[in-house]
Amino acid sequence: MKKNKENIASFLSEEKIKKRISELGKKISDDFKNEDIVIIGVLKGSFIFLADLVREIKVPCKIEFIGVSSYEGTESTGHVRITHDLSAEVMNKNVVLVEDIVDTGKTIDYLSEMIRMRSPKSFKLCALLSKPDKHELNQKIDYLGFEIGNEFVVGYGLDYDGMYRELPYIGVLKC
Ligand code: IMP
Ligand code: MG
Repeated sequence: MKKNKENIASFLSEEKIKKRISELGKKISDDFKNEDIVIIGVLKGSFIFLADLVREIKVPCKIEFIGVSSYEGTESTGHVRITHDLSAEVMNKNVVLVEDIVDTGKTIDYLSEMIRMRSPKSFKLCALLSKPDKHELNQKIDYLGFEIGNEFVVGYGLDYDGMYRELPYIGVLKC
């Protein structure tokens, strides 16, 4: 598919995303009052969401990234591959794992288990989007932006084969 922004129908506007992220930041700040947190962004899709979210979090936080790859085109391969591991210990830390979108839940379940094995003090999940119909997820999402249907969405960090991440809003690919 050609990279043509006319192929994209707007789905969630910049304003809606900004408002919801401000609410999520407030909730996280309230839950971790008087505590420090380590925010772990799942690369690459979470990078824009994470950048906006951390500016709404009012408690001290360190930022880490973990890289995974499980998608080709619009289909999950079902196999999660770590492309970049954490650069710091999370033992005895309050960890918030930040994902762009939960589809089947396989990526987040895999990463959660991997991080829990490193003995954090607490562990919470945050996702901007969730596709509830397809969930095989074995845990709850503590901080969720929006539930959506089964459409394949791009923009605001989310990609289709590496493209469209830079869009400031979330859109649906028109095929
Ligand atoms: P899961 O393991 O099936 O939950 O897949 C989650 C990962 O698939 C996310 O981190 C995204 O990178 C990618 N993904 C799932 N749905 C979409 C979508 O609609 N647009 C872009 N990426 C998606
Ligand atoms: Mg992705």
